[in-house]
Amino acid sequence: MDPKLESLLRQMPKAELHMHVEGSLEPEMIFRLAERNGVKLAWPSVEALRAAYAFTDLQSFLDIYYAGASVLRKAEDFFDMAFAYFERAAADNVVHAEIFFDPQTHTARGVPVAAVIEGLEHACRRAHAEFRLSAKLILCFLRHLSEEEAFATLEEALPHRKHFVGVGLDSSERGHPPEKFARVFGRCRELGLHLVAHAGEEGPPAYIESALDVLQVERIDHGVRCVEAPALVQRLARERVPLTVCPLSNVKLRVFADLAAHNLPALLEAGLRVTVNSDDPAYFGGYVNDNFVQTFAALPQLTAAHALALARNSFEASFAPAEDKARWWRELDDVHARVMAA
Ligand code: ADE
Ligand code: ZN
Repeated sequence: MDPKLESLLRQMPKAELHMHVEGSLEPEMIFRLAERNGVKLAWPSVEALRAAYAFTDLQSFLDIYYAGASVLRKAEDFFDMAFAYFERAAADNVVHAEIFFDPQTHTARGVPVAAVIEGLEHACRRAHAEFRLSAKLILCFLRHLSEEEAFATLEEALPHRKHFVGVGLDSSERGHPPEKFARVFGRCRELGLHLVAHAGEEGPPAYIESALDVLQVERIDHGVRCVEAPALVQRLARERVPLTVCPLSNVKLRVFADLAAHNLPALLEAGLRVTVNSDDPAYFGGYVNDNFVQTFAALPQLTAAHALALARNSFEASFAPAEDKARWWRELDDVHARVMAA
């Protein structure tokens, strides 16, 4: 790849909008936390765990991802996990991150929501103090569980309302349409929370439509299957709905055969507000810059203009204040000029 393009991809300031913090748990940290908390793992070593990362679809990944998260018990565990991610993200020139967390994965094991949010929020504060990285939390409901359980989780989290900016919907997509969560998302809307949902990763384009129409989400996480419904693509373009796309994740979970087959260029060509993200970086072989560099290397039709559009989209699609967005755009222009002049 053109070295200037690679420098631009690595050095440009960017926002990451689709990253599950439990998916940033590296195998070494899983073993360290297991030892610290006396948790027994099903794998004998870091190498054996890493060797198990051969996924055939979303569910085969989720089974291991939830097992990995079982080592998280105390606020300090959540702090250590999130701070390690922020350190890594800052090295990739991420200046703003809106990170997902799955409280139900932890409350099911008796971990209080307070411990989860306290640890994560402390890491967000430290990331801002140390790296000037603005970090926000998005609470996700697990869609394989019931709406009643989502309501109970929301109630438990509400005393910590000021520490999360929005809610999302993740976990097993097929057979769990957005409609299942219509009332709880309605309540979150009344509470003034931002709304996002995974849709069109493995599920059909109809799930993207119902995420927009029934849940009234502001962004679609993944959304790559929209191309199967041309009228939906036109709508997403017209309404400027952001799609938080995760190329390495899509290949690892076999949504696309390889990066060269990814539809990112088609999505950009259709005028969609696409962003590039890492999803679960510890499991899918790379953080956000790995996603950018490997995707652009596999798809030579992607240019510096696309790189800039993706970075701009990441700021535009974020829930950050307008003055921060304006500052990041100026910084992006400065980095672009510097890289091109080098
Ligand atoms: N939870 C963590 N990663 C996920 C993904 N890619 N899709 C759905 N749920 C998830
Ligand atoms: Zn995801």
